Amino acid sequence: MAEALRVLYVTSEVFPLAKTGGLGDVSSVLPSTLRQLGVDARILMPAYPDVIARLDARPVGAPVPTLPGLEPVQLFQGILPDAVPGALTPVYAIASPALYARSGGPYADDSGHDWPDNAIRFAVLSKVAALMGCGAGPDDWWPHIVHCNDWQSGLTPAYLALADSVRARSVLSIHNLAFQGNFSPDLMPALGLPWSCFHPRGVEFYGQISYLKAGLHYADHISTVSRSYAREIQTPEFGFGMQGLLVEANDRLTGIMNGIDALRWNPATDPYLAAPYSSEDLSGKLDNKRLLQARLALEPDPELPILALVTRLTYQKGVDLVLGLVDELLEQPLQWAVLGSGDKAYEAQWRALAEIYPGRVGVSIGYHEELAHLVEAGADLFLMPSRFEPCGLNQMYSMRYGVLPVVRRTGGLADSVVDITPRSLLDGAATGFVFENANREELRACLLRALLLYRDQATWRQAQLHGMRRDFSWAASAARYLELYRTLQPGWSSM
Ligand code: ADP
Ligand code: GLC
Repeated sequence: MAEALRVLYVTSEVFPLAKTGGLGDVSSVLPSTLRQLGVDARILMPAYPDVIARLDARPVGAPVPTLPGLEPVQLFQGILPDAVPGALTPVYAIASPALYARSGGPYADDSGHDWPDNAIRFAVLSKVAALMGCGAGPDDWWPHIVHCNDWQSGLTPAYLALADSVRARSVLSIHNLAFQGNFSPDLMPALGLPWSCFHPRGVEFYGQISYLKAGLHYADHISTVSRSYAREIQTPEFGFGMQGLLVEANDRLTGIMNGIDALRWNPATDPYLAAPYSSEDLSGKLDNKRLLQARLALEPDPELPILALVTRLTYQKGVDLVLGLVDELLEQPLQWAVLGSGDKAYEAQWRALAEIYPGRVGVSIGYHEELAHLVEAGADLFLMPSRFEPCGLNQMYSMRYGVLPVVRRTGGLADSVVDITPRSLLDGAATGFVFENANREELRACLLRALLLYRDQATWRQAQLHGMRRDFSWAASAARYLELYRTLQPGWSSM
């Protein structure tokens, strides 16, 4: 049997161990699906509190030296809990209590302030990945491909390219170009980087060290999470200053749409629901509506459409556009169900709306995995008026759960939601409502169109069924990553 292609998947969050957004979801299902395709994919992540215990991990090898002046770090290895059945995905966790063992989130403390030493915390992650990619890891396993994600592992391609040894090829996936990991150039020596690479054709970006820029410059290949976003980031509107570099990198840039965890997000088997349902029998959806109304203290009325949001409450997501329409839309018979956390001002505005409109606006500020599932099961419309959206997962969860998404035509939203028109209904493609520009007027018009269609339950049902029958699973996208790895390491097959 041919030797398997070995891939190290380097990430700062992995569901269920650590998750702040879609990257956490992607990082657990993609490597596991790759394993099902015969790739020896393994994950590398920081050992945040409880990670070692939840992985039931054991130390591997001797401590590994990382950055100048830092104590070597001990790696642990365990198996990802609750992953794709049968995949048994190994996870290497970097134990450095001084850097990672603190309560709070992966990137920020409980009040939302970034950890002041994030530059070092994620340079260590990047460095360990590069060492493993050069065969200098804690054990005798070394990868052919090091697959990095976002700025947190952006220095890995730089460390690899600067290494004086045989090395793995690198892929950097962009999940969000707005987060760049830009830090003071004074850190160059602490990062163990030579000043010769503090250069526009290196790690320098407008006078700072940029981890993302470094990754984009040095990676053998760049991928991002939808075809549309791959195009958009080459323009000034979406490029956040990196569009020039991305245009130049065009021939090593690929857009591959994310899939969803089709087992965890399945209304027929979801343990968080009041009742299961499927495209064959949607009757259970009403029980979920009732439970959602009860959970969010909404009036128990099965007739009213529920408009939902589950999101980071940020400008990127167009939360301000929605907030600006809530009063006006409440002149119609409908309810709001909102779950989110993020900008304190948005949080406060949603809380205030819930107080002004008891029984009609239900709000939960915080992060609740089970409630996120129940909102998808109980709602009718799901709003994603994002200013930009590299991929977006919730529109796919929504379609799977028979909820019609209302999205701006951008990034992965454009690539996954088909606007409802007489033509697309006839084609069997219609799944939601799409508008062009991120402004209140266009969102309003789109929502009014959606609310009008809600009165035509037969057509509504048609669109629900189209969405529920689409295949959003990872199988096809994981196969595209495998193809990409093969172009970088010709000659390596899968197990
Ligand atoms: P992003 O990564 O930009 O936040 P995605 O749509 O890719 O956007 O992924 C968001 C993920 O985080 C989804 O799985 C969504 O259900 C989840 N999520 C976002 N906010 C919350 C919340 N407050 N509670 C529970 N899950 C949330
Ligand atoms: C980012 C993007 C989101 C994408 C997710 C996973 O957080 O904002 O659009 O779905 O990464 O790739």
